[in-house]
Amino acid sequence: MNDPVLGIDLGGSSIKAGAVVPATGELFGELESVPTPQPATPAAVEAALAGLASRIPAARGPVGFAFPAVVTQGRARTAANVDRAWIGTDGAALVARATGRAAWFLNDADAAGLAEMRLGAGRGERGTVLMLTFGTGIGSALFVDGRLWPNTELGHLQLPDALGEAELHASARVRAERGLGFEAWAQRVNLVLAEFQRLLWPDVIVVGGGVSERWEEFAPHLRSEARLVPARLRQNAGVVGAALYALESHAAGR
Ligand code: BGC
Repeated sequence: MNDPVLGIDLGGSSIKAGAVVPATGELFGELESVPTPQPATPAAVEAALAGLASRIPAARGPVGFAFPAVVTQGRARTAANVDRAWIGTDGAALVARATGRAAWFLNDADAAGLAEMRLGAGRGERGTVLMLTFGTGIGSALFVDGRLWPNTELGHLQLPDALGEAELHASARVRAERGLGFEAWAQRVNLVLAEFQRLLWPDVIVVGGGVSERWEEFAPHLRSEARLVPARLRQNAGVVGAALYALESHAAGR
């Protein structure tokens, strides 16, 4: 089945959606987006998704929705950077109502990681691969021999020396808010990578999120015992991963 599948990715500033060709991860048509409603309550997001999905008529079959929170049994469990009303919300049911299709709901970094493992920088990698997304927060997705361990939430790890949570120290938002240059920011990221290494010993770390578009500028300053590679699907990874997850879950009858 190679009909394009709808993937949706909710971020701090925009909700992106696209019709994803499953075999290649390419988009059929344009990536569409709308500003994330403020506050991004479930009701406001549901209304925004209905409008967004109607702009992508080429997509067929199920829909995948990537969301920046822990997701278990189809429900959001945390709300670090989103409206607290999401906690307990059945995201799949919300998307199904907004789009009129069967829907699947997952963490945004897990979605981006799935896309990179299947079609991008992690393709064919065995062993332990850690995908990190640097954006409003720091998202993480952990894979062992290609299988996902969902909801790892490493962005909330407490750093040593009372430096606080990893994502409050080294997300892309922190870089922007503090006006840090890439070298100064990379030093913060290195501290975070060292903590992740100490605990998980990944063989490969895939560096993603919007900031990965500027990989050449900060990569020379990054240090890690793991092999560091830039995400390939860049800003589309969440959308692509959400679509792949929906298709695979639908096919598996989950
Ligand atoms: C959330 C994660 C999310 C990450 C990136 C964190 O604040 O807790 O669930 O994956 O941000 O959006």
